[in-house]
Amino acid sequence: MIQHIDIKDLKRITEVIHSKHGYDFRNYAMSSFKRRVLRILDVGNLTIEGLISKLSQPSAFIDEFLDEMTVNVTEMFRDPGFWRLLREEIIPSIQLNNKQFKIWHAGCSSGEEVISMNILLKEMGIMNNVKIFATDLDPSILERGRTACYSLKNMETNEKNYIRFQGKGSLKDYYKEQGGVAVINRDLLSNVTFQKHDLVLGAGLGKFDLILCRNVMIYFNQALQNEVVKKFHADLNKYAYLAIGAKESMIWCDYANRFIVVNQEEKVFKKIKD
Ligand SMILES: C[S@@+](CC[C@H](N)C(=O)[O-])C[C@H]1O[C@@H](n2cnc3c(N)ncnc32)[C@H](O)[C@@H]1O
Repeated sequence: MIQHIDIKDLKRITEVIHSKHGYDFRNYAMSSFKRRVLRILDVGNLTIEGLISKLSQPSAFIDEFLDEMTVNVTEMFRDPGFWRLLREEIIPSIQLNNKQFKIWHAGCSSGEEVISMNILLKEMGIMNNVKIFATDLDPSILERGRTACYSLKNMETNEKNYIRFQGKGSLKDYYKEQGGVAVINRDLLSNVTFQKHDLVLGAGLGKFDLILCRNVMIYFNQALQNEVVKKFHADLNKYAYLAIGAKESMIWCDYANRFIVVNQEEKVFKKIKD
């Protein structure tokens, strides 16, 4: 059933989610929010009133809704040039000042970037010097990250990316095939804390030397991107790095001038002013 949905309906939906469940989608980019809501209506065979009524009740439906609402697409070593830049420039530069350091994967989805980071660090021989925080709004996707079992089909794409990243071995060195899935070696998660965290309403998580928030802010409107970049600024040590998605930008953000561009193509920035 194709339904018409206008901005007032979307506002009512975001308001009920905010007031009943404490998630704030009011400043998400409305075009993609609308597409996801239409999908939820279609898949659940719901009307707008039916959806609002379901969202008004305290039930597990909100977790299902969050999972459908958020775009969780991710890959290991997506944008291999970015990962080469991390290995050849960014991580060595962090290491000059701090032998032990902290990385935050904000909006980590099912954890593929976290695994990529630990493979990179392991191949550099420094994985045990680094603490990783991996956070996401969506509890179901975070659970997939904790489990770290991925479809073998996805591993083919991941392996292609790893080859372009010019890793030291084969991605197969880091997982076992078991029951038709790729089970990542547990030692690759030994320094990782997975935690549910909302970038919009959540408090800071401490100070980091590198924050990766790739392909997350693309779903926010500019005002919200501005607020989130301010939070990242506060959560970064001076001269620490922020990486956003290749298609994202910070140029309209109030705090853009407190960073310098380290690499425009890979969208890596360095905090230079408090
Ligand atoms: C497209 S994935 C990006 C995954 C990974 N960073 C990458 O680039 O491959 C976007 C993730 O952002 C998460 N997300 C959306 N809104 C969020 C919020 N307010 N706080 C934290 N995570 C959020 C979604 O749940 C989703 O897992």
